This record gives sequence, C-alpha cells and structure tokens, in this order.
Amino acid sequence: MANVAIIGAQWGDEGKGKIVDLFTHDADVIVRYQGGNNAGHTLVVNGKKTVLHLVPSGALHAEKLCVIGNGVVVDPEVLIDEIRALKAQGHLANDEQIRISEQAHVIMPYHKLIDQARERLRGEGMIGTTGRGIGPAYEDKIARVGIRFVDLLEEDTFREKLERNIQEKNFYLKAILKEKALDFDQIHDSYCQFRDQLKGYVTNTGLLLDQKIRAGKRVLFEGAQGTLLDVDHGTYPYVTSSSTITGGACSGSGVGPQHIQQVIGISKAYTTRVGSGPFPTELHGPEGETLRREGAEFGATTGRSRRCGWFDAVGVRHAVRMNGMTGIALTKLDVLTGFKKIPICTAYRYEGKTIDEFPASSKVMQGAKPVYEEMDGWDQTLDNVRNFSDLPLSAQKYVKRIEEVIGSEIILVSVGPGREQTILLKNPFEK
Ligand code: GDP
Ligand code: IMO
Ligand code: MG
Repeated sequence: MANVAIIGAQWGDEGKGKIVDLFTHDADVIVRYQGGNNAGHTLVVNGKKTVLHLVPSGALHAEKLCVIGNGVVVDPEVLIDEIRALKAQGHLANDEQIRISEQAHVIMPYHKLIDQARERLRGEGMIGTTGRGIGPAYEDKIARVGIRFVDLLEEDTFREKLERNIQEKNFYLKAILKEKALDFDQIHDSYCQFRDQLKGYVTNTGLLLDQKIRAGKRVLFEGAQGTLLDVDHGTYPYVTSSSTITGGACSGSGVGPQHIQQVIGISKAYTTRVGSGPFPTELHGPEGETLRREGAEFGATTGRSRRCGWFDAVGVRHAVRMNGMTGIALTKLDVLTGFKKIPICTAYRYEGKTIDEFPASSKVMQGAKPVYEEMDGWDQTLDNVRNFSDLPLSAQKYVKRIEEVIGSEIILVSVGPGREQTILLKNPFEK
C-alpha cells in the first residue's frame, strides 16, 4: 500500500488539483505541505468548477481527512472564507475533516503589504508574485520571528510577538517602502477573531499523520506551485519562497521519506508560466494565443493571463530527477488538437553549445534557445477518449516521445478538466 506525492513538474498550474481530486478516491488523508494561497487548484466535478487555495484538493470527497501541514503559510482570513464556502456547498460537513498544523506560520497584513509594495518598487524587475504575502511570511519564518498557530493560540505570546514585529515592520514600511504604518490594535483584534474561528482545527499534524500511517491509512501529499518555481532548484530569483519538491513534502508535513513510496509529477503536454522569469519555449505569436485560448490559460488565483509555450523536456527531466518521480501524469493533451506540427524542446543552445541540463545561471537561462524536434499533430477532439489506444496515432506517438525524452513513465493522460476526462494507465496507490 503506497503513499503518494503529487508534485508540479513545471512552473505551476499543471493540473495538480484535478489529479489530487481524482486520486483522493484511493487515499484516506490529503496533505498540503508548502506554499499558501498563492496556489489555485481547480477541480471540475460533474461540470461544476471549484478553485481551492489552501484547503487540500481532497475536500470534495466526504470523510477524507484534509491536513494543512507545518510547511504551509496560512492567511487565516482566506482559510476561513474557503472553509465557509465549502461548507455552503455541502462539503466539510464534519469539522474533524480538516486539521491545521500548530506549527504552520500565519500570514500577517504586513506580509501582504510588503510583498505588494516591493513589487511596485521593483517596476520592470518585478518577480510577478501573487501579492499574497508568501515571500515575506517565509522570510520571517527563516528569520525566526514568524507567528505560528501555536503562538496565536497563546494570548501573551501572540501579543508579545506582534508588538515586536509591528514595530520593526512599521519602520521598514515607512522608511524604505514609503507605505503607511499599520495599527497594532486593529491587527491584534482581527487576528484574535480569526484565532477563535480556527482554533478547533489546530493540532499536532505530524503526530496525527504518523498515527494514520501506522494504522495503514493512505496519504496523498499535495504539492503546490512546481519544481521550476522551487526556491533552490527553480529559476531563481523568479521562484516562490518554498521547497516545492518531494523533499519539501517531508519537512513540510513532518513525515519521514520512507513513507512516500510513489512520486507523481504533473506536467502539461505544453508549458505555461505566470509572472516574470525565463521561459525558453515561450511563444509570443498566434500559436501562443491559441494555446492560451484553447487551454483557458488564465490564473486560478490572480486571473492573470498565463504565458504559453511548447513542451520543455529539459525542465521536466530536471523535475523527474530532482523529485525522484516514479511516474508522470500528462495533462491538457486535448489542448494540442488542431496543430499541424507540435515541437518538443529536447535541449537548449547557448553561445554555440548544447545544454541538456537545466542551467542554474539566470543569464544562461534568459539566453537559452530551444532545440526542437517536431512531431505530427492531429485534428480529432480528445475530450471523450478514455483509452490510450483510442487516441489518434500521432497523439499516442507524442505521449510516447515525451516519455522517452523525460525518462519517466507516463501513468495518466488527461484530456479535459473533468474528473472523468482521464486515461488512467497505472494507479500509483496500487503499487
Ligand atoms: P494546479 O494549480 O496545478 O492545480 O492547476 P490549475 O487549476 O491552476 O490550472 C489547471 C487548469 O487546467 C484548470 O483550469 C483545470 O480545470 C484545467 N485542466 C486540468 N486538466 C485539464 C485537461 O486535461 N484538459 C483541459 N482542457 N483542462 C484541464
Ligand atoms: P499553483 O499551486 C503558478 C508564481 C507567481 C510568481 C512566483 C512567486 O496553482 O500551481 P509568490 O506569490 O509565490 O511569491 O510568487 O511564483 N506562482 C505560481 N505560478 N502556479 C502557482 O501555484 C503559483 N504560485 C506562485 O506567479 O511568478
Ligand atoms: Mg494553479
């Protein structure tokens, strides 16, 4: 019986939400372990769309335990709204279904303000963050001044930490970022209200997960963002501030690596990216427009239009190695219908040299030109295909070629946003 991690293999928005929702059927516990409400995970069930930012994507299944692990940074107001909206739809009927780590850090108003003000000041050089305060919240965690749920629950600890932080942040906000100072009482009072609404969910989730695993329950780890946005292994500095890879699933949930047997990378059949940063296969012309239109490539969190390009095997190969992927779920194959030729980027060229491995240098990455091989396209719509052998031959060849160039088995092909629009080749829970 396996526990499975679902990890973004590109720059996020690969369709993790859909795949987590699908595999929740076979799991007992679903854990978010990093990121925050910068994530937007879309689930389409019976034609109805739900976008989740903090609550794990298992929430639409009754009786599955949804855990927000210690590695997540939580905006309490957003979480309260999300739980309320899910309850209004008849989900999360049992309050026991959702648990928040006492060690998870809390996103404060100054984190959001600092994030947004810095981006404004950066102008052209902006990272293109989601403006949700993610980076500044992780900065405080690493600087050892962050406020965790366990701190929020202790009246005196919370007051003391907030007083100290507000003093420092207000100085920074006014002197450096030219923003207005924040009011201690206002923040204190609103966060005490958030605390009262959330305290029933807060617990030692590392211990809880250990108990579940010992009892033979199956755990699904839900990654947010993607490997190429990882703070260590992504296109630094155009990355998010957390460890998005499999290693992050252990530190961000408090579960040892021996308990993760299967690692499934999620990748689109092409590539997208939101925000700034290098993107060698980006298409600036009509083909990029077609991908954006057919793939409805608009951000689930900020609504920004996503940059689109061809499949980049250099990036996904890097993700396969970095995460120890045991398989890949290839999503949005249906979006490629209608292209006469579909290029796959197998390497980069930079200053006359061929590069097979993902470069660490921002300069090299910015200047890298894709080396393409061209595959034949197909005209048939794929939305209703449920067996691999029913895919047009050129679509089958495209999937098989991707498998070869990334060096990992494709265990699932997704042909539409709906739960049922899926060709499952191997179930990772049955390994
Ligand atoms: P996540 O952040 O990785 O969960 O991905 P998002 O939800 O941000 O973005 C993926 C988008 O693609 C969502 O709108 C999904 O409903 C949609 N989607 C997922 N799989 C497929 C697919 O196979 N085909 C199509 N056309 N859309 C898909
Ligand atoms: P999901 O989980 C795509 C991007 C932002 C920006 C960079 C840093 O839905 O795949 P941040 O707010 O994290 O400091 O922004 O990371 N980014 C995402 N891009 N999908 C996401 O999440 C993302 N979360 C952050 O656009 O470029
Ligand atoms: Mg998303």
